[in-house]
Amino acid sequence: MLKVPVIIRHPRPDESLTPLWPSLEKYGWNLDGIWVAEHEGAIVGGVIVWDAGHDIVRVDNLHVIEDYRTRGVAYVLLDAVVKTLHDKGRRVILSTTQDIRMAYWAQKKGAAVGVAAHLIWWEIA
Ligand SMILES: CC(C)(COP(=O)(O)OP(=O)(O)OC[C@H]1O[C@@H](n2cnc3c(N)ncnc32)[C@H](O)[C@@H]1OP(=O)(O)O)[C@@H](O)C(=O)NCCC(=O)NCCS
Repeated sequence: MLKVPVIIRHPRPDESLTPLWPSLEKYGWNLDGIWVAEHEGAIVGGVIVWDAGHDIVRVDNLHVIEDYRTRGVAYVLLDAVVKTLHDKGRRVILSTTQDIRMAYWAQKKGAAVGVAAHLIWWEIA
């Protein structure tokens, strides 16, 4: 299904993630927990994996740059993440989305889909 050949990898420290997640740019990140899709040297998509060593892993903030959407980039990104988590013995992926199409897509792929509660965003003073 992939129509854009992308390389899936972790970002390098010198690469900006702001085009993917402008609201998160002020924070420091563990790049081992971030996966990006690269096309011809540019980052065109990314996802954040919150793996604390439990059976359940949060996978969130999936984002593909607008010009690259509907060409299979998100699918390839998620596929790489799922394979990696499977190899590590993780058992459940927990995720949220505000996009109903994403929820339907996940359901089609076998995910259980429920209504999310409120998101609590709490800066530690
Ligand atoms: C949702 C998003 C990541 C999909 O990326 P994409 O690269 O266009 O998706 P793909 O081309 O890999 O398509 C994968 C599947 O997702 C479906 N899909 C889910 N949500 C979609 C959306 N918002 N727009 C288009 N396709 C979507 C596609 O139909 C496709 O299904 P198929 O495999 O049955 O054909 C992208 O639209 C995006 O970045 N949206 C804004 C951020 C967002 O809503 N993130 C989601 C949750 S955190």
